[in-house]
Amino acid sequence: MLEIKDVVGGYGSVQVLNGASLKVARGQIVALLGGNGTGKSTLLKAVSGLIKPWSGSITFDGERIDGLRPDLIVRRGLVQVTQGKEVFPGMTVEENLKLGAFVVRDRAKASRALDRVYTYFPILKERRQQLSGTLSGGQLQMVCIGRGLMSSPKMIMLDEPSSALAPQVVLDIFRTIHRITQDGMTVLMVEQNVRMALLLAEYGYVIMDGVIHIEGPADQLIHDDNVRLSYLGGTVANREASLGTGA
Ligand SMILES: Nc1ncnc2c1ncn2[C@@H]1O[C@H](COP(=O)(O)OP(=O)(O)OP(=O)(O)O)[C@@H](O)[C@H]1O
Ligand SMILES: [Mg+2]
Repeated sequence: MLEIKDVVGGYGSVQVLNGASLKVARGQIVALLGGNGTGKSTLLKAVSGLIKPWSGSITFDGERIDGLRPDLIVRRGLVQVTQGKEVFPGMTVEENLKLGAFVVRDRAKASRALDRVYTYFPILKERRQQLSGTLSGGQLQMVCIGRGLMSSPKMIMLDEPSSALAPQVVLDIFRTIHRITQDGMTVLMVEQNVRMALLLAEYGYVIMDGVIHIEGPADQLIHDDNVRLSYLGGTVANREASLGTGA
């Protein structure tokens, strides 16, 4: 569904991506892992049109999207939830969510999308009239993911959805991401929580210095000596126990 091929790019004259290639198949959940400053967010930004790749190609749903305007990429069904849980604090939860439907002209469709977001995150429905600035970190992340879902995308890219959240909240967020993929969504997820990401994802990529360094099925990566030494300490958690889904 998404194919990134030899993408080179960066900011101004600073080259960050040095020929990154990555694929995500329809319905798959793929993890993009790597240390701080290795280019994970930059790669997502190149895909969603926030920066233009200098060379290489990005194909989504069979068509080239590299160089397209971000809003046109959203219209094609590819949405990025950026890092940092940014919302408009002075707007209510529901107002923030509705911003995600900016490309949707059909009001009935937007309203169905909102209902779906509330089934994924019931707490947001309870708090829909609350000002977003008063939410907890976990709830802010839910608003950001929910806002991304409001345009009913075919694929969503999540940049560190679990960052700076309490363990129980992380589990909540990951369970919901799992549920969203079970409903047919394709997901590319950047994570520092490598263990959880590899338990949830089917396939993983590790980026270093702007190129993919290691890739493979998640259950192999989790046992890969390089990945374990660099990113995982201790033992591998049990997938069913962690997700509580029996999946
Ligand atoms: N807007 C920007 N202007 C200039 N340089 C930037 C900008 N954003 C990021 N960089 C630089 O690009 C490099 C890669 O940054 P990027 O945000 O892609 O890393 P990351 O892998 O997402 O890291 P993190 O895990 O900390 O989020 C870093 O050296 C960073 O300082
Ligand atoms: Mg980042």
